[in-house]
Amino acid sequence: ANLNERSQLEGISLLEKLFHHLLMNTEEGHDALEYLLNRGFNESQLNQYKVGWALPGWETAAKLLEKKGFDLSLMEDAGLLIKRDDGSYFDRFKNRVMFPIEDSKGRTVGFSGRIISPEKNEPKYLNSPETPLFQKNSLLFNFHRARGAIRKEKFAVLFEGFADVIAASETVSNAVATMGTSLTKQHIQQIKRLTDTVVICYDGDHAGTEAAYKSSRELASNGMTVKVAKLPSGEDPDDYIQKFGAEKFRTDIIQQPLSLMAFKMWYLRSGKSLQSEDGRLSYINAVLPEISELSSAVEKELYLKQLSDDTGVSFSSLEEQMKSYSPVQKQIQVIPESVQPQKKSSILKA
Ligand code: UTP
Ligand code: MN
Ligand code: MN
Ligand code: MN
Ligand code: MN
Repeated sequence: ANLNERSQLEGISLLEKLFHHLLMNTEEGHDALEYLLNRGFNESQLNQYKVGWALPGWETAAKLLEKKGFDLSLMEDAGLLIKRDDGSYFDRFKNRVMFPIEDSKGRTVGFSGRIISPEKNEPKYLNSPETPLFQKNSLLFNFHRARGAIRKEKFAVLFEGFADVIAASETVSNAVATMGTSLTKQHIQQIKRLTDTVVICYDGDHAGTEAAYKSSRELASNGMTVKVAKLPSGEDPDDYIQKFGAEKFRTDIIQQPLSLMAFKMWYLRSGKSLQSEDGRLSYINAVLPEISELSSAVEKELYLKQLSDDTGVSFSSLEEQMKSYSPVQKQIQVIPESVQPQKKSSILKA
């Protein structure tokens, strides 16, 4: 790292210590600590993830960084401070619970700060801005801690929120989360170096379901084996763990994922009313091409049976219809004999 980057990392690290101290040891951090304990995080999790508290004042971090001799313009570039018109600096993060975000080397490169009392026009989480050190498109929360466990367990768990990673950490140590962005190629490549299997466990709401469908396709198209651990409707992993505990979360949710095909069928079914003929037909037309692409005959039969049960259409009709999607059939259909250029070439040769 060059000198400027090293100084930025030191500034970030100084604030991480300040925030963590304020949360754990001071009267000012009392309400925030109570909030975190009430939502089920324990002290050991707060220490391990170095969770902290940023005071409500405007210049707590700016003053400390200045006192310690940091170049404040560099700290602005690191996303810690914001410059006023008069050239002075104020804190980007105030009045928020602070979650340090570490890169794949375990260096803290930014923060995500959560409000604990709702304020108008304030986002729930405020993230560090994009900087050379903090790039959401390639950052996976917890990656450096989870690396060993992912190799050992031979799969990675992918959560939507980093709060879920922390909440599940007692029983699920092979977990990572994106930082509020969709899953990118860079994210996938990092996971792929450790394992070829991912269990997606996104929130059990509409946004989470849509995102899981999207991520499952991205992962599969990059050659990964995908499973989807579904949650009860309306709950996210952290909610579930608060209700039922981290042990039950592991055994009943993470260890019971749907196969990719079963998840796709559930997803495609959920948007359609199977009471109506239209709904059943469009469900069949969406699912059959997917089943036809499965390489295993046993799986084909399994999911055709399911499709037959879902729609009331006989297994044999579905099987017959599926032939129109099979790759072999397609090839034959693409080049019918009548348009094959045999005559032309023989004329050319002559
Ligand atoms: P969620 O809204 O599902 O967060 O957003 P969560 O993990 O359940 O948080 P709690 O339990 O309410 O504290 C998932 C992810 O989307 C990003 C964050 O990275 C979060 O982890 N996000 C969400 C933001 O960046 N900003 C927001 O305002 C909200
Ligand atoms: Mn919790
Ligand atoms: Mn969500
Ligand atoms: Mn959530
Ligand atoms: Mn949550």
